[in-house]
Amino acid sequence: MADDKKPDGIQPSAPATGANPAARPQHVNVRGGDAPATAAAAAATGATPTTPAPAAAGAHAVRPVAPRPAAAPIPDLAGKTTTAAAASAKTPAPAAAKATQRDPDDTSPLLTRRAWMGLAWGAFSAASAAALAATGRFMFPNVLNEPPQQFKAGFPNEYGMGVDERWKEKFGIWIVRTPDDIAQHASGFYALITVCTHLGCTPNYLSAENKFKCPCHGSGYRLTGINFEGPTPRPLERARVVLADDGQILVDKSRHFQYELGQWTDPEAFLKV
Ligand code: FES
Repeated sequence: MADDKKPDGIQPSAPATGANPAARPQHVNVRGGDAPATAAAAAATGATPTTPAPAAAGAHAVRPVAPRPAAAPIPDLAGKTTTAAAASAKTPAPAAAKATQRDPDDTSPLLTRRAWMGLAWGAFSAASAAALAATGRFMFPNVLNEPPQQFKAGFPNEYGMGVDERWKEKFGIWIVRTPDDIAQHASGFYALITVCTHLGCTPNYLSAENKFKCPCHGSGYRLTGINFEGPTPRPLERARVVLADDGQILVDKSRHFQYELGQWTDPEAFLKV
C-alpha cells in the first residue's frame, strides 16, 4: 500500500538476488541525467537496475506512458455495477432528453413543434402562390377570336339567284339573292344570320327542300327567313347589307333586323340591285 503513494518516476529497485543482505532497497530516479547515478547505485548495491541506462550520457530518457486504468465500477441501487463512462452515457442531458425522448412503445407519427411549423409555413406558401397565380391568370382573360363584324362579300354579279353559303363557315352569313323580297318588294340581296332563333344552333340549308333546317330541335325556315315549323318562335334575323365604295357587297353583322319588329323594311336590311 505504501508503494502506491510514491510519485511517478520513482520505482523501487528490485531485491537483489545474491546481493548483500544488509543492503537496503533503494529508490532510483530514472528521469534524465539521474539514470547514470541509478546505474552506479545499483552497481554499488549489486542490484539490477529496473530501468536501462540511456545510451549516451546526458540524454533524457523517454518514459513510456502507462495506459490509464479503467474507471472503477459504480454500483447502482439495484446492486448492478457499471463504469462511470457507461453511467454518464446512460444519463442524457436534461434539455436534450426533454426534446427528443419518446416512449419506445409510442408508434404514433407525431411531429415535433419545429416540424409542424415547417409544414404550416409550407402550406401557407403554396396557398399564397396558387392565389397569386390565379390572380395573374384573371388579369389575362381568354381572347375570343371572333371574325370581324364587317366584310366584303364580292360583287353582285358574282351571285346567282338563291342561297350562297360561301360565307357561312367564316362569318355565319347566308347571302340570298331574290327576284322579289317579301318585305322590300324588289329584287336584290339580303344577309341571313345563321343562328337559330330557338336556342342558337346553326341550321343547315337543304337545297332539295328549299329551306333551312335546324338539327337541334327541328325548327324550319323558308328562304326568306320566316319560320314555319318546329319550336322556334320567330324568323331568322337579317344583317345590314349595303354596297361599298368599290362596288362590292358590304355585310355588317353588328346591326341586326328583326321581321317581327318590322325592321326588314329598313333600307339597309336589303340591297336592291
Ligand atoms: S336551336 Fe334550333 S330548333 Fe332549337
